[in-house]
Amino acid sequence: MSETTTGAGAPAREPVRAPARDSARDDASPGVPPAAHPVRLTVNGEAHDLAVDPRATLLDTLRERLRLTGAKKGCEHGSCGACTVLVDGRRVVSCLALAVACDGREVTTIEGLAAGGRLHPLQQAFLDADAFQCGYCTPGQIMSGVGLMAEGRARDDASLRDELSGNLCRCGAYPNILAALRRTTGIEPAPDATRGDDRLRAAAGVDEIARDARDGAGQGGA
Ligand code: FES
Ligand code: FES
Repeated sequence: MSETTTGAGAPAREPVRAPARDSARDDASPGVPPAAHPVRLTVNGEAHDLAVDPRATLLDTLRERLRLTGAKKGCEHGSCGACTVLVDGRRVVSCLALAVACDGREVTTIEGLAAGGRLHPLQQAFLDADAFQCGYCTPGQIMSGVGLMAEGRARDDASLRDELSGNLCRCGAYPNILAALRRTTGIEPAPDATRGDDRLRAAAGVDEIARDARDGAGQGGA
């Protein structure tokens, strides 16, 4: 009897076979990068034909191949939002998107927002509302804001907070970031928003820092 059984009533097992050969994988030796793939990315209206490593992220491709360093590298895990760009008008964390997956698509980065020498209204609002300190998170915050407006998700104050919750700011500039978005969208703060903003300001020490700076200036300190 040639059939192998595993016990009473148990069905015969399939013999274990070696996996089918995959010629593409067989060509890849440890330490040897896979073959580059041709892609066409249209970035800020300009078409780029590139040969990219299939493992390359959109973020690295923008920063290292196209020298567009506005999108920032923060966590590289999709958690901080610093790398946010628009792909076909929708928000994408570019550290988690493969460049090859963006073949043929339209990418917009912070460098492509201004038009005709004029800042995008949200960029101007960030300046007017003093919505940044170190500025590292700012391109991602602005791209998220532009994206959420384009996606029709700027409905009320709560939705602004909710939609921006994936964009972290280590400097705690959240109250002013929200103020910039409210100015641009015309959305009024929710009744309890000021209280929440005060808590954020207190947590970030914003008022203490401003007071110390004023005191130092008043005393002519170094
Ligand atoms: S660097 Fe992409 S989400 Fe943080
Ligand atoms: S302004 Fe510094 S991290 Fe947001």
